[in-house]
Amino acid sequence: MTQPKKLFIKTYGCQMNVYDSERMAEAMGGKGYVQTDTPDDADMILLNTCHIREKAAEKVYSELGRYKGLKAEKPDLKIGVAGCVAQAEGQEIMRRQPMVDLVVGPQAYHRLPELEAKAREGKKALDTDMPEEDKFEKLKSRPKAKRGPTAFLTVQEGCDKFCAFCVVPYTRGAEVSRPATRIMAEARDLVERGVREITLLGQNVNAYHGHDKGLAGMIRELATIDGLERIRFTTSHPNDMDDDLIDAHGDCDKLMPYLHLPVQAGSDKILKRMNRSHTAEEYIRLIERLRSARPDLHMSGDFIVGFPEETEQDFQDTMALIEEVKYGSAFSFKYSERPGTPAAERPQVPETEKDDRLQRLQALLKTQQRALQDDMVGREVSVLFEKAGRMAGQMVGKSEYLHAVHVEADDVAIGDLRRVRIDSSGPNSLSGKLV
Ligand code: SAH
Ligand code: SF4
Ligand code: F3S
Repeated sequence: MTQPKKLFIKTYGCQMNVYDSERMAEAMGGKGYVQTDTPDDADMILLNTCHIREKAAEKVYSELGRYKGLKAEKPDLKIGVAGCVAQAEGQEIMRRQPMVDLVVGPQAYHRLPELEAKAREGKKALDTDMPEEDKFEKLKSRPKAKRGPTAFLTVQEGCDKFCAFCVVPYTRGAEVSRPATRIMAEARDLVERGVREITLLGQNVNAYHGHDKGLAGMIRELATIDGLERIRFTTSHPNDMDDDLIDAHGDCDKLMPYLHLPVQAGSDKILKRMNRSHTAEEYIRLIERLRSARPDLHMSGDFIVGFPEETEQDFQDTMALIEEVKYGSAFSFKYSERPGTPAAERPQVPETEKDDRLQRLQALLKTQQRALQDDMVGREVSVLFEKAGRMAGQMVGKSEYLHAVHVEADDVAIGDLRRVRIDSSGPNSLSGKLV
């Protein structure tokens, strides 16, 4: 028997890249590759990259630099770049780092096995097409091996929104939804393999139209699968939040009371310049409607500070919006100029100002996050156990609000869903006892 070849994949960026990396590893499994968790013994290294901010993209080049020694020692080692930097920079990557053998974009990775074969012949292999064919149809069916209790499932890809700061519409292409029947089949397979919680993914997931009743219809149908206990979805755009999806938060028990709904900014002037197509007030009203459907809903968001021409007053409007909404968690970033996007051409806010705003914004978000977490003390939550804790007999899982929860119990297994009464709140997690 021939020795299996080893594939090392390093994943950057969003959850969709995590899902894509799984699918690429599976595709390479068909060519005799097994995954390894170190680059040192790999026959192929694949970086699945993110282009969203300048720092994310630069990381790729510095990471590639680190593999120079390995490549010199082992000329057979193949190095590939996948993901959004691959899409955005294409051939430029091979010019900057000649040791790269293969470049594959996010819509072409079903062709990875062919590209690897080409690279093995000593040729440079590049594919950043956005073909009409559906890559998911071309990818072989997924393996049947047991797996952990949570999984991502991509239902929609691409974006037609063209926010003025964002590269995603260029790196992921136009919005495409996968057919509902395929999603159901993939979800059933995942559940058979031990999955109890599925997070539906899309760059604009609530614009999903592969089900005749939209994302809400898809969620309700998924909820009929026995053994699937929890459903989440991310990332949504406020303008695609329809009535049915709002109602689903109230009437679909398996849909978790946690919603990631980025707003980016709280000033109408900035929202307009960002091309977000809604006002701060509309966003707040939307959250009120969601909370009347599901009063215990925890909100999560994304914020950008220092967008071109953002004044201190605009920034204060963002702070006021945060005060009003109260977030259970959030991601916040300094605006980063992305070549080719409209905002990159506009007058920029000085870096020191961006730093200062980010600090103030993160301090506020952190206080809110901690307050909502501390508020769990004395309450009963459901916990899906994902792994053993650091101490003997300890298990760690996630509550419906995505808080990490530690429990001491020797009769809990990974994949169990149990009621827990929370008795303390630490810096990053909760602890409690089984009910
Ligand atoms: N599709 C999602 C997420 C897009 S990327 C959405 O519509 O919200 C994730 C986050 O990165 C964005 O929500 C935004 O907050 C941030 N982001 C995107 N482009 C950025 C840029 N040029 N500079 C700083 N942050 C950016
Ligand atoms: Fe980017 Fe805006 Fe599309 Fe989100 S909605 S992916 S921020 S263009
Ligand atoms: Fe990054 Fe591409 Fe995701 S740019 S955030 S990996 S869609």
